Amino acid sequence: MQSVTLNNGVEMPQLGYGVYLVAPETCERCVLDAIGAGYRSIDTAQAYYNEAGVGAAIAKCGIPRSELFITTKVWISNAGEERAAASIEESLRKLHTDYIDLLLIHQPFADYYGTYRAMEKAVRAGKVRAIGVSNFYPDRFVDLAENVEIKPAVNQLKTNVFSQQWDSEREMEQYGTKIMAWAPIAQADADLFENPTLQAIAESHGRTVAQVALRYLIQRGIIAIPKTTHIDRMKENLDIFDFELSAAEMDSIRPLDRPREFQGSHRDPELVRFLLDYDKKFNPANK
Ligand SMILES: NC(=O)c1ccc[n+]([C@@H]2O[C@H](COP(=O)([O-])OP(=O)(O)OC[C@H]3O[C@@H](n4cnc5c(N)ncnc54)[C@H](OP(=O)(O)O)[C@@H]3O)[C@@H](O)[C@H]2O)c1
Repeated sequence: MQSVTLNNGVEMPQLGYGVYLVAPETCERCVLDAIGAGYRSIDTAQAYYNEAGVGAAIAKCGIPRSELFITTKVWISNAGEERAAASIEESLRKLHTDYIDLLLIHQPFADYYGTYRAMEKAVRAGKVRAIGVSNFYPDRFVDLAENVEIKPAVNQLKTNVFSQQWDSEREMEQYGTKIMAWAPIAQADADLFENPTLQAIAESHGRTVAQVALRYLIQRGIIAIPKTTHIDRMKENLDIFDFELSAAEMDSIRPLDRPREFQGSHRDPELVRFLLDYDKKFNPANK
């Protein structure tokens, strides 16, 4: 598996497996399938309510912990130094591990500076190897990066052929922060699979559109974490390291970027309210 080196020297697989919307009861099976298919990096979050399924798979998979790379994220309801610290302990317990490889602030809301301080402490205590953020647009990202001791290793952003994040990349480069792409295959948007540019490139390489979309990110040095519950698609999404897009093909994908139409904005107050309320509505423990 091709890897990238984060800004603190930690090596991370460039392609991983994401488990958003994988039901807690199927998560263990999916993660075991993904590890069996060759994935070594798993992306979960407190707010996916399936960390325990990931943990069960980690315990059962037979792969040494040191060969796996586990990412999780602190949710808004656990924001603030004390709550975040307690939630990190709970994530460690659910994940059946004594360290997290990469820990992110999931959303740039509530007391995320307090959360970040708890994460920095967890790094110093050896409980976390690298820390970063998610959904931090350039303005919030720069403010945080300028005011913390440990510069974020990644910023996990909605990144795909329709949302290419060039502005974010430019700002993040100054801190050595890598883009980690969520929705790398545009959440299976029909526009992706029907796009003539992508279809033509896929045909010329004997590949699928999903593989071309992922390969585009990999060649830009972006980390990607596609999600699927199907083992054939897990293999398909992983099978992208033996072909290369030409410079002309890379250039032909660049104009597909249309973030304004495609991106639900974290600057939209309605989305902020929805996310602030998310845990109350969706945490199975609250039902
Ligand atoms: N930080 C954040 O705020 C945030 C937000 C969203 C997601 N994420 C993370 O990023 C990961 C990936 O993002 P995502 O799940 O939103 O979107 P995604 O990976 O772009 O797309 C997932 C969708 O694509 C389908 N799919 C997967 N592989 C396919 C293939 N080869 N051909 C056709 N369809 C395929 C899946 O269906 P099937 O499952 O039916 O195959 C699913 O409907 C998540 O799982 C999560 O770990 C983070």
